Amino acid sequence: MTEFAVEFKNVSKSFGETPVLRDLNFGVHRGKITTILGFSGAGKTTLMKHILGLVKPSEGEVIVLGTDIGLISELELREFRRNFGMVFQYAALFDFLTSFENVAFPLREFTKMNEAEIKDKVLGLLDSVGISKEAAGRLPSELSGGMRKRVGLARGLALDPHIMLYDEPTSGLDPITTHVVYDLMRDTHLRNQGRGFTSIIISHDIHATLKYSDYIVFMERGQVVEHLDVENFKKSENPVIRRFLEL
Ligand SMILES: Nc1ncnc2c1ncn2[C@@H]1O[C@H](COP(=O)(O)OP(=O)(O)OP(=O)(O)O)[C@@H](O)[C@H]1O
Ligand SMILES: [Mg+2]
Repeated sequence: MTEFAVEFKNVSKSFGETPVLRDLNFGVHRGKITTILGFSGAGKTTLMKHILGLVKPSEGEVIVLGTDIGLISELELREFRRNFGMVFQYAALFDFLTSFENVAFPLREFTKMNEAEIKDKVLGLLDSVGISKEAAGRLPSELSGGMRKRVGLARGLALDPHIMLYDEPTSGLDPITTHVVYDLMRDTHLRNQGRGFTSIIISHDIHATLKYSDYIVFMERGQVVEHLDVENFKKSENPVIRRFLEL
């Protein structure tokens, strides 16, 4: 295993005539928290979709955990996606399932665990994100926004992923709850760090990013303009980044 969980090699992507990613060459450090930062439309979500193999590059290769995901079949790719946990913008829980059943869903779908094992695992996961047994029986509509994010995180962790992907996990939350969710992402990261667990976060929140990340990838108009550890990022002379830092 290399030092990178994900590598982009000469990756470009166009939708029709419009270039969206331009010649990306960088690696996401294994075992670390990397945040992808940039203005709206920079290409952050598109980049994340390339990591999942949901979008294919027009040129270049995406290597995930040592596998060139452009070279494997759709079926293999589906199996490969068990390496990922995902938390999307609006938590995207199944609104007809309780918290418990939302977290149990991937276990029922992808494992042969029996009911007792599932119960143990789900209650353990919910407990680790601070969701009580009582709340486990509630529907998403009966939870606060912050609690829904926690349940989404527990579900993302159900299959013991190697890489967690978060696309703007705190959008729509107040500043306090935002920090609670960031704390939770960091705790989750530290708890799993022993096995090379990698966290990739898309964010707009510069303050939280500087506090919680190890590395920052700054994107502008489809290009990576800076990829630095946080300390060096703070010192960047790049005028666009300076503008971002002064927000
Ligand atoms: N499937 C698609 N077809 C055509 N254009 C697309 C498609 N997906 C994304 N784009 C375009 O690619 C550009 C980058 O989009 P992307 O969603 O990656 O940006 P982003 O950095 O995630 O923005 P935001 O911060 O607003 O979420 C945008 O101009 C978008 O319109
Ligand atoms: Mg986006």
